[in-house]
Amino acid sequence: MQFEIFTSGLPQVQADCVVIGIHDGGELSAGAKALDRRCGGALARFLKRGDFPGRLGETLLLPAFPRLKSSRILLVGQGGHDVTRRNWRKAMAAAVAALAKTKVSSAAVALTRPASRELDDYTFARSAVEVTRAALYRVNDLKSGQKPAEPALQKIKFGPLTSSASRAGKRGLAHGIASANGAKLMRDLANLPGNVCTPTYLAEQAKALATKHASLSVKVLEEADIRAEKMGCFLAVTQGSDQPPKFIVIEHKSPKASRAPLVFVGKGITFDTGGISLKDPGAMDEMKFDMSGAAAVLGIMNTIAELALPMNVVGLVPTCENMPSGRAIKPGDIVTSAAGLTVEILNTDAEGRLILCDALHYARRYKPHTVIDMATLTGACVIALGVHHSGVMANDDELASELVAAGVRADDRAWQLPLTEEYGEQLKSNFADFANVAGRDGGAITAGAFLAKFTKGLRWAHMDIAGSAYVGGAAKGSTGRPIALLTDFLVHRTGR
Ligand code: BES
Ligand code: MN
Ligand code: ZN
Repeated sequence: MQFEIFTSGLPQVQADCVVIGIHDGGELSAGAKALDRRCGGALARFLKRGDFPGRLGETLLLPAFPRLKSSRILLVGQGGHDVTRRNWRKAMAAAVAALAKTKVSSAAVALTRPASRELDDYTFARSAVEVTRAALYRVNDLKSGQKPAEPALQKIKFGPLTSSASRAGKRGLAHGIASANGAKLMRDLANLPGNVCTPTYLAEQAKALATKHASLSVKVLEEADIRAEKMGCFLAVTQGSDQPPKFIVIEHKSPKASRAPLVFVGKGITFDTGGISLKDPGAMDEMKFDMSGAAAVLGIMNTIAELALPMNVVGLVPTCENMPSGRAIKPGDIVTSAAGLTVEILNTDAEGRLILCDALHYARRYKPHTVIDMATLTGACVIALGVHHSGVMANDDELASELVAAGVRADDRAWQLPLTEEYGEQLKSNFADFANVAGRDGGAITAGAFLAKFTKGLRWAHMDIAGSAYVGGAAKGSTGRPIALLTDFLVHRTGR
């Protein structure tokens, strides 16, 4: 898909189809009025009949109007005149979905935008690309029947922007494309079933990524290497599985950067049965998404490489399965982490924190500027925040605020949870330095508090994406979150 900015008026724009917003009561958006004047008011006369009242997300494709360059007009309902970002995104997604069902190969989209203080020109263009690509995303399914035909749509132009704004708009497009490519990579990986997307498969995908981008290099630690690193907690989780574990290290090096790297860590449980603390069968299939953090790391590394961001970034992915077996860890087992701290595993289903704590310790060797881990870590986070916000916990409030602010700008929101010391105290064990669980209360935070014990002295944030990284139900699948948030976070630090 090609993306462009257009600066001309709607009647002059070159495209098969112009897409315009209609507001409650069939009212034309400001931009559409010029178009209507060009066709002699035919559009307004049509709308007056009331057939298209402009309800949010409704669409109608109209045939050619006289004296327009385009052969069609797509009407898109935008609801009230006070256009929020959320409603604008909904209208945009509806427009793209409608276009994808037609033979239109190029479209100029001119919906009413939210006020510019809510959506500047850069973010407008970036979000427009992200929404478009998300609306066009198809699950790479394994159905044996014929695949539906690809949409005819080849090119989308967004606007109109003034010519002075088009530079910011073009940057927004480029960043939106890189963000969308990262999200697609994440979604494709996370949507794969556990029997395909194994730790070995993830390692191969990481290697493939490094052959695609010159700035990336990949190293994969095998089980023996993981043992040599003394990652006792990671090894404890994998010991019940027949699939070999992998520890993926992926690096982006920029000649323009001298500063200590940013390190991303992603939870890569390719299937979480819970182990001996076996999960209920209900939605257990969704535990194939338990490698969403890992997929997010690979996705964002792809985005970083595509944008050639002037910073050094390391991605760390501990990946294995969590299975019950005769060799699996048992509740009460005590293991020693790479950091040397001992952990009593009271619940084998709290495995994410076990693989992450060893990866976080590994991050120390880079003397990182900042460490951010992403994990589908707790059901408790979904209880606390629902699916709308990712949870953010950090030992540095400024870092947490940066992530939350990036989420607001990117419409990929996150919310900070408190990580004060009381939560860490709940992890007391009679037999080891601490336990891996602390009861139900504040479960998302006690998981964060567990990780915090391994990140002393690092500038670190943890993102619990258990609710945001995928959706269940009829549209079951990966969402690609929090790639848009992270892209914004990174771009914001390196300058738009
Ligand atoms: N992968 C799960 C967390 C999860 C649950 C993600 C539901 C998405 C939806 C994690 O490994 C887990 O099982 N956590 C336990 C922790 C508990 C045993 C303290 C949980 O949340 O129940
Ligand atoms: Mn689990
Ligand atoms: Zn898990």
